[in-house]
Amino acid sequence: MSGHTRIKTKVAILISGRGSNMRTLIQAANDPAYPAEIIGVFSNRADAAGLDHAKQQGIQTAVISHKDFDSREAFCEALDSTLEAWGTELICLAGYMRIHSDAFAQKWVGKMLNIHPSLLPSFKGLNPQQQALDAGVRISGATVHEVTPELDAGRPVLHGVVPVLDSDDAERLGARILKVEHQIYPIALKQYIENSGNNDVAAADKAQFIWPQ
Ligand code: GAR
Repeated sequence: MSGHTRIKTKVAILISGRGSNMRTLIQAANDPAYPAEIIGVFSNRADAAGLDHAKQQGIQTAVISHKDFDSREAFCEALDSTLEAWGTELICLAGYMRIHSDAFAQKWVGKMLNIHPSLLPSFKGLNPQQQALDAGVRISGATVHEVTPELDAGRPVLHGVVPVLDSDDAERLGARILKVEHQIYPIALKQYIENSGNNDVAAADKAQFIWPQ
C-alpha cells in the first residue's frame, strides 16, 4: 500500500425485511481496509426490521412502497432516482423481494449483486430451500451473483456450500444456509470490487466457492 487513502466504492443495499445480510455488509464495511462504503439502505417496505439497524449505524435510509405506483417501471424509476441522488456505484440486494423492471436491471448490469439461498443455477425463485429438499440433493448453499433482467440467472460470483441432512426441513436447512450467506456476501463484494479493475477477465469471471469446515 502506498499510504494513499483508497477510494471506496459507494454501495447501496436494498432490503425488504430482516436485513441480516445487510448487517454483515455494514459490519465488513466498517473496516477501513474494506473497499466498499455503505452509503444508503433502501426498502420497499416501511416495516423492514433492517432499517432500524441501518439508522443506528448512521446510514441514510429511504422507503418507497411499490404499492404507491401503478407499474413496476414507475416504481423502479423512483428507486433509481433515489440511488442516483445517493451517488450509488454498486447495488447489493439483500433479501430484496421485488422483481426489477427490465430498464432498471439493464441499467445496473455489472453494478448489481444479489444473494440467493441455493447453489445457482439450481432452485431459482421462491422457497429454494424447500426446492432443494424436494429435489433430494445432498448439498446446497448460497450464491452471490450478478443481477441481470432474467430472475436469478446472472453469473455466479461466489458460492457457499452446506450439506443437506436427513433431519432437515426447510427451516433447518435455511438456517444453515443463512450462516454461510453471512460468510460469503462480504467476501464476494470485496472480490467483485477488486476484480472489476482486473484485466485478467477469464480469472475474474470464474465463480469461487467456500465450503466451511
Ligand atoms: C436470505 O436468505 C436471502 O438469501 C434471501 O432472503 C433472505 C433474506 O434474509 N433472498 C432471496 O431469497 C432472494 N431471492 P435477510 O433479510 O436476513 O438478509
